[in-house]
Amino acid sequence: MDNINLFSTNTNLLKPVNRGITLLSSRELTKMRRVGQIAANLLNHLETMIKPGVSTQELNDEAECWTKAYGAKNAPLGYAPLNHPPFPRSICTSVNEVVCHGIPNPRQILKDGDIINIDVTPILDGYHGDTSKTFLVGSPSHKAQKLVEVTRECMLRGIAKIKPGARVGDIGAAIAEYAKANGFSVVKEMLGHGIGRQFHCRPEIPHYGQRGKGLKLRPGMVFTVEPILNEGTGNIKFLADGWTAITKDKKLSAQFEHTVAVTNTGVEILTLPR
Ligand code: MF3
Ligand code: CO
Ligand code: CO
Repeated sequence: MDNINLFSTNTNLLKPVNRGITLLSSRELTKMRRVGQIAANLLNHLETMIKPGVSTQELNDEAECWTKAYGAKNAPLGYAPLNHPPFPRSICTSVNEVVCHGIPNPRQILKDGDIINIDVTPILDGYHGDTSKTFLVGSPSHKAQKLVEVTRECMLRGIAKIKPGARVGDIGAAIAEYAKANGFSVVKEMLGHGIGRQFHCRPEIPHYGQRGKGLKLRPGMVFTVEPILNEGTGNIKFLADGWTAITKDKKLSAQFEHTVAVTNTGVEILTLPR
């Protein structure tokens, strides 16, 4: 009863107009707000630990402990979509040239000048909240700081396009234009995604596209916007661990992510700390 599936009834043919996308009820949105706040607060908590000398494993372990205290679980642990081995940790930690899905490791120690994306996805009461930020360790180069700031701005500009009747292409176009204007590349392989009871579901949200094109947004749609920008080319490759993605040219990569809901009038960022 929770999930409304929209079908147009003004023709003889029962025509699906939502391409199988689940629209969340207000009761479900309440749960998404709760887990969204847990995700946001977890990320803020982990931020306080970021300094040279800390290992990515310590960040993972603290995330596990913190999440447990709030009665939540971490979706990444054991997550095994098609063609991937089970993810072995509770958060993703992606340092410097790592594009996304970096695996926390006790031998990986943060050092002055690094940038690190931490991506968290707690589950509470069956619902997922997915958010990430890229943090500075000490004082990275001016170029690294610019990459991080532009990536954050790209995410916010994409989110700002979201309202009923807008198109998925409006989001991607806003992101790709701002990235290009600042001399950075968008990683096209990695997409935003529908989220709710499932970690990843439809719709797909590319971080590039054409204004006015693509799926029409409707109130109740919930998805992530999570652009990844590279300092060099947008090309990536995967490590043998089956998860870690890195830049092909080994230059820096940054990412920011929020989980958002389309409202009757615009957009609500569910993973913005309140
Ligand atoms: N949180 C990531 C995303 O934004 C997905 C991580 S999957 C994992 O979609 F298994 F690597 F954790
Ligand atoms: Co995501
Ligand atoms: Co994420």
